Amino acid sequence: MTKQFETNILCIGAGYVGGPTMAVIAQKCPKVKVCVVDINKTRIDAWNSENLPIYEPGLDEVVKEARGRNLFFSTEIDKEIADAEIIFVSVNTPTKQYGIGAGKASDLQYWEKTARSIVAASNTNKIIVEKSTLPVRTAEAMERVLNSNDKGLHFEVLSNPEFLAEGTAIADLHNPDRVLIGSMETETGIKARKKLFDIYANWVPQEKIVTSNVWSAELTKLTANAFLAQRISSVNAISALCEATKADVKEISRAIGMDTRIGAKFLNASVGFGGSCFKKDVLNLVYIAESNGLPEVAQYWEWVIKMNEYQETRFVENMIKAMFNTVANKKIALLGFAFKKDTGDTRETPALFVSKKLAEERALITISDPKALENAKTDLKDLSGISYEIDPYVASRDSHAVAVLTEWDLYKTLDYEKIYKSMVKPAMIFDGRNILDHQKLFEIGFDVYRIGKQALLHSETAFI
Ligand code: NAD
Ligand code: UDX
Repeated sequence: MTKQFETNILCIGAGYVGGPTMAVIAQKCPKVKVCVVDINKTRIDAWNSENLPIYEPGLDEVVKEARGRNLFFSTEIDKEIADAEIIFVSVNTPTKQYGIGAGKASDLQYWEKTARSIVAASNTNKIIVEKSTLPVRTAEAMERVLNSNDKGLHFEVLSNPEFLAEGTAIADLHNPDRVLIGSMETETGIKARKKLFDIYANWVPQEKIVTSNVWSAELTKLTANAFLAQRISSVNAISALCEATKADVKEISRAIGMDTRIGAKFLNASVGFGGSCFKKDVLNLVYIAESNGLPEVAQYWEWVIKMNEYQETRFVENMIKAMFNTVANKKIALLGFAFKKDTGDTRETPALFVSKKLAEERALITISDPKALENAKTDLKDLSGISYEIDPYVASRDSHAVAVLTEWDLYKTLDYEKIYKSMVKPAMIFDGRNILDHQKLFEIGFDVYRIGKQALLHSETAFI
């Protein structure tokens, strides 16, 4: 290793987590060499270019500052493994789609391949950091694969789950609520934990860096995502009740959120939660509970997912019902396709479910999104009757209905008079994120459908 740097860090997996996390470590620790490798050459080329492979506010600036100084992106995986002292594993751990545990368990094939590549390419002892979200007790399997080497090498496995959310990744990494480092409670485990602690301590206040045993760290990550997803499913369940009773879910969220025991965040009722993590991590928790002979625990968490599916279905069925029970050959504009604002990521986006359902009903869908159109085209390549248009005004022209599916700020300030005038009447708007000024839209002439509050309709005979 070049002694120009104090420590040599490698991250395997240059995705939504590996890329931003390592960019921030490199930015904050100029004396540490940080290299990010991936089997996907196109992705690495993009990390080395002006057009980074993911959109994340503030990411360009961080990469620009550190790339070439102490931050490197490469496909030379074996060489970089050999050189590294600390290796973060940040590969994807999607839901398994085959065999035992299909549809729930975590697919660990990418993780295991990585562990085996590490063993094969190493000639020195290393600290291996689980950054990916993994089932509890994975570190045990990782240690067995790694330490079964016949080179006399020792690998110390730490769990350092990542809590960043997409769209706010850089802010979350710069100023995390906490950093969690789990280790084995052995002398070598505690020594390795201290080494990682010292890296984060370059910018994270020490009281925010918490340590635990490795199993707690692994299970904390699944628990955190399950609790967050559960809040959204809870408020979405109440939204359905609000629509039936003339209560207003926003008023309820505001009032319950003021209870400091409940807290104000993650109480926005919506068309449903998306993203690559919540569904897969809750299902993984369900699978782990089932595998441990705890069916009640499994069912409890499974309802968080069922409620999300109910909310997505309810939204699209309400659309169809409101549009006189037929959307065939009607133009519908979907504003937003990303699973949340400020990202181009479309993994598990509710917009995909809504598009598929409307396409099944033979609607003519136009999708608009400032950052996610390329991903949308890939996601929907098998469906006919779909067009793509970045300009929301063009997307809405001649449509019977507009549905807001992502809470992009730009949708709050569109000229809805102009949109209304260009639409087929009666013009309907479905606010799947509750971000628009509903009274104003109603006054413009729209029939306004929202989450968790009665619709504002111009005709008593409306279909909802
Ligand atoms: P991702 O799919 O964006 O990136 C994973 C990368 O790993 C891909 O580029 C893939 O090519 C690469 N990879 C797979 N196998 C490899 C191998 N053998 N060698 C080298 N590279 C390999 O995934 P992501 O969203 O970054 O998530 C990574 C992990 O972090 C997952 O476990 C996820 O649950 C967890 N996580 C994700 C988020 C999030 O917001 N996306 C937040 C916290 C934790
Ligand atoms: C989540 C976790 O928040 C993060 O800590 C973890 O590391 C990865 O998974 P992410 O999926 O990137 O992050 O985004 P998040 O902000 O959690 O939103 C997830 C989904 O929930 C989005 O579709 C969002 O629109 C939705 N959501 C969020 C709501 O519907 N209502 C809310 O009140 C909050």
